[in-house]
Amino acid sequence: MCGIIGYAGPLSAKKIILDGLAQLEYRGYDSAGLACFDDNQTIQIKKSVGKVTSLQSLCANRLEDSHCGIGHTRWATHGGVTVENAHPHQAGNVTLIHNGIIENYHQLTQEFHLEDKLVSQTDSEVAAWVLNSLYEGDPFTAIQKFLPMLQGSYGFCILFSDRPGEIYGVRNVSPLVAAYTPSGSMIASDLTALIPYTRSYFVLPEYTIAKLTAYQICLYNHDGKQITPEYSKVNWDSDAAMKNGFPHFMLKEIHEQPEALKKTILPRLVKGIPDFSDDGIPDTLFSECDKIQIVACGTAMYAGMVAKAIMEPLLRIPVTVSIASEFRYEQPLMNEKTLTLVISQSGETIDTLAAMRLSASMGSKTLAIVNVKGSTIARESDYVLYTHAGPEIAVASTKAYSVQLSILYLIACRMAYVRKAFSLEDAANFIQMLMDAIPSMETMLHQTKTIQELASHLISHSDVFFIGRNLDYAFSLEGSLKLKEISYIHAEAYPAGELKHGTIALIENGIPVIAIATQDSVFAKTISNVREVKARGAYVILITREHAHVDAELADIHIKIPEISDHFTVFPIAVVLQLIAYYTTCLKGLNVDQPRNLAKSVTVE
Ligand code: F6R
Repeated sequence: MCGIIGYAGPLSAKKIILDGLAQLEYRGYDSAGLACFDDNQTIQIKKSVGKVTSLQSLCANRLEDSHCGIGHTRWATHGGVTVENAHPHQAGNVTLIHNGIIENYHQLTQEFHLEDKLVSQTDSEVAAWVLNSLYEGDPFTAIQKFLPMLQGSYGFCILFSDRPGEIYGVRNVSPLVAAYTPSGSMIASDLTALIPYTRSYFVLPEYTIAKLTAYQICLYNHDGKQITPEYSKVNWDSDAAMKNGFPHFMLKEIHEQPEALKKTILPRLVKGIPDFSDDGIPDTLFSECDKIQIVACGTAMYAGMVAKAIMEPLLRIPVTVSIASEFRYEQPLMNEKTLTLVISQSGETIDTLAAMRLSASMGSKTLAIVNVKGSTIARESDYVLYTHAGPEIAVASTKAYSVQLSILYLIACRMAYVRKAFSLEDAANFIQMLMDAIPSMETMLHQTKTIQELASHLISHSDVFFIGRNLDYAFSLEGSLKLKEISYIHAEAYPAGELKHGTIALIENGIPVIAIATQDSVFAKTISNVREVKARGAYVILITREHAHVDAELADIHIKIPEISDHFTVFPIAVVLQLIAYYTTCLKGLNVDQPRNLAKSVTVE
């Protein structure tokens, strides 16, 4: 949450910052601001509410000759969306931008008598004033004294008025990456802002102070000793973060799924079955556990629900899926025989990170499934399996979900093989069925006409229900999240059999019910539930496999996915559900890639 960028170098700081903020806007888009040293070496601040384009207009014909500055795009936490609350915040000699939450801001306000000084309602401005009180001309000494006073998470980029041309960066939990490039020194919350300038970067180690100038980046640890940054290479190119002819990132990312799946699965197959040796994962991790605990949030957690439905019957060990933000309060039963699977696209979701840390503290081994290389969860977990989806820019997760699923299927297969629930042949067949699901996704990518037709029906409704049983229920949860988060239509997923225990009271004439019935073992029962809603006037959108027999009058719209094994239908179904959400949102004329109130990468609790 909140996009951060800083630049010091020979090029126009304003241009680099504004371009970077446009790339980072998916992290937060309530307001944006920048601070640059002007040609008199004085700090100039510009801020505006709304999108980065408003800030661009505000900065037109200004700050043309600036070579050092910082910029921020905000997702509001403390205080509403106002110019005062937008970053940067200036306090005396200190001008800073902040990502994260300073939990003890109230106590600091009192301790440093800041009540009359504050012009915003933000914890970040409090931090700026505290740092200013500690500043006596030496940024390092001030930052060293400052950090132990803070509780919470932070990524700061700081300018000091009497230090033109210098940017200081420091972080705890909230991500910051940096690079010295041929165009100058850069620091940002995400790689996407650096990619146009470099393919090498480093993750700023926590509590390390970075000093950026036009000529170099120096890192200092808490004792003031200089340390060498550990550079990594970016594993995707800048095209991956562009729309490449698609009207929205979301549609592009939906279309990228078949390729992303191949990139994630194929390098991990040896003789047709999954092998994680190159990922450094020993088979003992899978053979020595007697329970699996999955922790994740949102879409990643729904991928975990699918995994549970696949793994538990196959492995015959308990698989528990917990919402990461609730996990700490559940007093979970864990020990060294519990394998914790941590699922996160960004690798920075703070609740997921905290859940992982709790699991580890209870002796559990942690295996993270992460898309962003070098992210905090990836670095802190015992083991990591990277998904190779490339950057996911649309706020609503699509390709990250399907690649997470593919890794979970690979884990299920390897575990079944290692634990002797699968023979070599069973494992190879399982993987073949997984691979067969990929062309079925491609087939569904071309079903736009039917999906647009059903989207045109959904837009006139304020409620939509998704129903399904067993795996189909797990898919429904993700379908309803996708629809509600971008189209703002209230959508609920219910296990089909549970409807008549209350929710069916809401079914009335014309209410859309999206029923998913792809699982052999529960097909007939789900169809009976569809009849129940149809009898009460529902507009039924039925999704089944190709050869399923259903009475023509049961469904108002019938979408058929290719005839693949029922354990793998999530892949084509995911495409259908994502396209339903996408086209409904387009028809409503809403911002598909940046829905209101949301931001990519939730780094606050
Ligand atoms: C929904 C969505 C979110 C994320 C959730 C976890 O489309 O994107 O629900 O899945 O915030 O994020 P990560 O996977 O980055 O931990």
